[in-house]
Amino acid sequence: MFVQILGSAAGGGFPQWNCNCTNCAGFRSGSLRAKARTQSSIAISDDGVNWVLCNASPDIRAQLQSFAPMQPGRALRDTGISAIILMDSQIDHTTGLLSLREGCPHQVWCTDMVHEDLSTGFPLFTMLTHWNGGLNWNRIELDRSFTIAACPSLRFTPLPLRSAAPPYSPHRFDPHPGDNIGLIVEDLNTGGKLFYAPGLGKVDAPLLDIMADSDCLLVDGTMWDDDEMQRRGVGTRTGREMGHLAQNGPGGMLEVLEKLPEQRKVLIHINNTNPILDEDSPERAELVRRHVEVAYDGMSIVL
Ligand code: MLT
Ligand code: MN
Ligand code: ZN
Repeated sequence: MFVQILGSAAGGGFPQWNCNCTNCAGFRSGSLRAKARTQSSIAISDDGVNWVLCNASPDIRAQLQSFAPMQPGRALRDTGISAIILMDSQIDHTTGLLSLREGCPHQVWCTDMVHEDLSTGFPLFTMLTHWNGGLNWNRIELDRSFTIAACPSLRFTPLPLRSAAPPYSPHRFDPHPGDNIGLIVEDLNTGGKLFYAPGLGKVDAPLLDIMADSDCLLVDGTMWDDDEMQRRGVGTRTGREMGHLAQNGPGGMLEVLEKLPEQRKVLIHINNTNPILDEDSPERAELVRRHVEVAYDGMSIVL
């Protein structure tokens, strides 16, 4: 299985357009050693030709342009995207669907909850019906594995995760299973197994077992500290409130990852305030010491 990181940043990207936090300002002035990152999206394939896009970010145009297999030349109009899976209905994971309108209809896999949000508060499914059939909804049923015809040797298993519905969701303050999912992706030919969860607020014992059974973890790296937005003076919301488990502190992501065996551990969906973006920071050194990687745009993983 080929896993291509198209966008490794959280909502806003890095640097964020209107942000002058230490990281964003440091990157612009050149005083910080760091890579720019676009917003959260990966692509997965079993043959390197047909790809399943997981999340459609607002940066999708640049992301597709930067990865040649996404622009095959089999026809005058063509794409490497065979299907799209949405992990939630957040702006950073769905807005790119608008930019894909010229290629409709698209096969879109998501839960009832995400489909509801994207038919009401942010009605992408409704709007895009005006473009050649729009988005064909394929319902994701929680904990039930599914396959996608274009990538026949991949098996996808969706897991409900504790996180938060977006502000425009009709059930914003009434969380439901399926607001946010993680995915286990298995390659039935190679046996490779990926666990992907860009929004992960809580890891309980059953989930830890699932993570332990994967060859590669691609998990929520949004914040280093739960109160990082406050510390950096750019906001008041905590990681926990947004459904993101911070890396540092008791019960944090680093403690969770420490309990797991020797598999590849990669943080993704990194917020622009996170000190791990600074390649010379003590926080980044701590990750290196723990053999935890930080995803970057253009990173390829083969499983
Ligand atoms: C999140 O991951 O919590 C959201 O994408 C935040 C946002 O972009 O508004
Ligand atoms: Mn996000
Ligand atoms: Zn910033």
